Amino acid sequence: MSLPAMHTAVGMSVPFLGGLAGFFRSKRVTARALLILVFAMIFCGLWAEVPDIPKFLSHGWIPHDPEHVNIFFFHGLLDKHQTEDRGLAEGFLAILTIFFCILFACSKTVLDNERKIAHLKSRALSKVKPLAIPKDVYYKDIVDIHCHVLPGVDDGPETIEESVAMCRRALELGISHTVATPHLPWRGNYDTGKITASHELLKARLGDENIPLRLSLGSDIRITWDLVEKLKGSSVFTLANSRYFLLELDDLAVPERLEDFIGKCAAEGYYPILTHPERNAIFHSDMNRLKEMSRLPMLIQLSSCSLVGMGGERVEKMAVELLRAGLVNIIASDAHAVDMRLEEFAQGLGVAEKIVGQAKVREMVIRVPGLVIRNEAIERIKIDQRSA
Ligand SMILES: [Fe+2]
Repeated sequence: MSLPAMHTAVGMSVPFLGGLAGFFRSKRVTARALLILVFAMIFCGLWAEVPDIPKFLSHGWIPHDPEHVNIFFFHGLLDKHQTEDRGLAEGFLAILTIFFCILFACSKTVLDNERKIAHLKSRALSKVKPLAIPKDVYYKDIVDIHCHVLPGVDDGPETIEESVAMCRRALELGISHTVATPHLPWRGNYDTGKITASHELLKARLGDENIPLRLSLGSDIRITWDLVEKLKGSSVFTLANSRYFLLELDDLAVPERLEDFIGKCAAEGYYPILTHPERNAIFHSDMNRLKEMSRLPMLIQLSSCSLVGMGGERVEKMAVELLRAGLVNIIASDAHAVDMRLEEFAQGLGVAEKIVGQAKVREMVIRVPGLVIRNEAIERIKIDQRSA
């Protein structure tokens, strides 16, 4: 076999085999058309090297015959001017073939992605399809203690249809119990009557539509100097009427005497669950403070979406650090709409699983939030979680 012929044979056999494998896997017309082109090029390349097929079949490979090279346009063109450098022409053909193979692979990926994006864009609320989550990151019986699912009470869904869509999606994601936690105060008001009515309305609708999601009431409470009094006077809702409540801080500040406040709450029999500390700029630069606080009678809730970059790079990094340091008691969604943080909740659990393992994630999304809404003692929750 001549050297150029060897170039062709080696250079083209690899993409040929790759292309062949791709051909049988691909169902796409464009991809198939590209492959046919690749096969055609390979055939022409071989034809240029083997001018006489019957002779080839009876005598094997025949060194290149310049009279036949013009059959293949590129070959002939290059050969006419630089006959002495056939290797270059062969190499060029091989690279071109590889290029088309890569183009095939890319076209398949691009088409797939475009299809997915188009699907997401055209998705109507009532036609939300089940999310494809790998089985190994799918959890059943999740208790989501932080979700803005009630219609018309805060920056969550505006209509009950949107709320119902959220509930359906929550079920698909493995959530069996959601605690509805609207912001309190919302625009300066503590309108608990409106929230209770919205909760009752959604519960009734879930019953009418046979949606088996359990729905409890709570609230996402901004810290205020008189919060303990508000808790005692039922101006805010604890989680499922338990001793636990969601405590939200400003993202850019941590009150100087927060630790005293937590002590004051505990003395009155209330225990804060600090929401998404991974977003707080003060904790970013002073994680030790959070470590010290974790010893107090309180729990820490991470928002799953932070693990998939929804709050930015710094928040994502902090979320990972908190998990690694064992500071997270609960992971929740903090979802606000069917397409805001529910999908990311499921994706974030996959990330968490890679960091702390499946057993710990189950603790944080099923067992501990379950204990919270059953109003178990905080000592039990904390001791159990440490030894788990
Ligand atoms: Fe929230």
